[in-house]
Amino acid sequence: MDDSFIRKLPKAELHLHLEGSFEPELMFAVARRNKVDIPFKSVKEVRAAYRFSNLQDFLDIYYRSANVLRTEEDFFDLTLAYLKRVAADGVVHAEVFFDPQTHTARGIPFNVVTDGILKALAAGETQFGITSKLILCFLRHLDEADAFVAFKQAEPYFDRLTGVGLDSSEVGHPPSNFARVFAAARAEGLKLVAHAGEEGPPEYVWEALDVLHVDRIDHGNRALEDPKLVQRLAAEQIALTVCPLSNLKLCVVKDMKAHPLRRMLELGLRATVNSDDPAFFGGYVYDNFSAVHEALELTVSETLALARNSILGSFLSGREKARHLDALNAFAAN
Ligand code: ADE
Ligand code: ZN
Repeated sequence: MDDSFIRKLPKAELHLHLEGSFEPELMFAVARRNKVDIPFKSVKEVRAAYRFSNLQDFLDIYYRSANVLRTEEDFFDLTLAYLKRVAADGVVHAEVFFDPQTHTARGIPFNVVTDGILKALAAGETQFGITSKLILCFLRHLDEADAFVAFKQAEPYFDRLTGVGLDSSEVGHPPSNFARVFAAARAEGLKLVAHAGEEGPPEYVWEALDVLHVDRIDHGNRALEDPKLVQRLAAEQIALTVCPLSNLKLCVVKDMKAHPLRRMLELGLRATVNSDDPAFFGGYVYDNFSAVHEALELTVSETLALARNSILGSFLSGREKARHLDALNAFAAN
C-alpha cells in the first residue's frame, strides 16, 4: 500500500477541535492584525514549546493560543484553513468541535464565534466539496451552570448545530456532572458525544453511555481495561473517535507501536482515526493514518475498515452514508 492510497482514501474526520487547528503561522498573522501580544518570537519557537507530558500541560497552551482569536474573521479564517488543509488528505466530511466558553469568558460574543465558523463551513463545502457538521463542546473544568449558559446562548443556532460534546480536563470531572445539560440537549434532538477514557477511567465511559446517553465516545482508549465495557461498545457499535498522534503527544501511549487501535478493531469496536488538535500534535488526519499504519503494520483491509467506520460513525443520514460507502468501495476496487 503506498502513501497515496491512504491520502486519497475517502474518509470522514469526527474528532477535530477547531481551536486545535490554529497553526502558528496563522496565529502570528491574527495576533498582528488584532494587536495582541504573544510570548513567542517565531513559529519555530512556538513549535518548540509544544511538548506535553499530559492533557493539562497541553490545555494550558491551547487556551492561551485561543486568546488571540477575537473577530468573526478570525474564526472564519481558522475554520477555512482547516478545511483547505484536509481537502488534501481525502477528507470528504468533517464533524468539528468548538469551545464557545473559552471565547465568551474573554468577552467575545457567542455569535461572533459561531457565525464565523458556520460561514467558513459553508464556504468549505463550496470551495472544497467537504460537507460538515458542528458540535458545541462544554468545558468540563467549569460547572454545569456555566454549560447551561452556553447552551442558552446556542438556542438560536440549534438548527445549525448537530450536537453537543464534553471536553477539557477529564480526570476529576466525570460525565455525570453534566447529566442535566445533556438531557436538555437530547430533548432538543441534538446528537451527543463526550470525551471519555482518554486519561479518565472506564467508569467515565460507562457514565457517558448510561448517564449522558452519548451517540459516540471521543477517544475511549481506557475502555479496553474493562471487558464488559468492550462488549457493550462492540454490541452497540458505538463509534470511538481515536486520535493516535494526540495519544502519543499527551503520553496516553508510550510508543505508537503500543497503540491499541488494531486491538480495538480485533475486538469488533467501531474505531476511527482522527487528529484532535493537529496544529499542536504534529499532524492532520493523513498523518494519523500514516503513523498507525507504519507502527502497527495495518493491512489494506484494516485501513479500509477505519475509513468505513468513519462514515458509519458519522451523523450523516443513512442515504449519505450509503453514497460515501459506495465511493469508498469503488476506490478500494481500483
Ligand atoms: N480539548 C482539545 N483537545 C482536547 C483533548 N484531547 N481532550 C480534552 N479536551 C480537549
Ligand atoms: Zn479531543
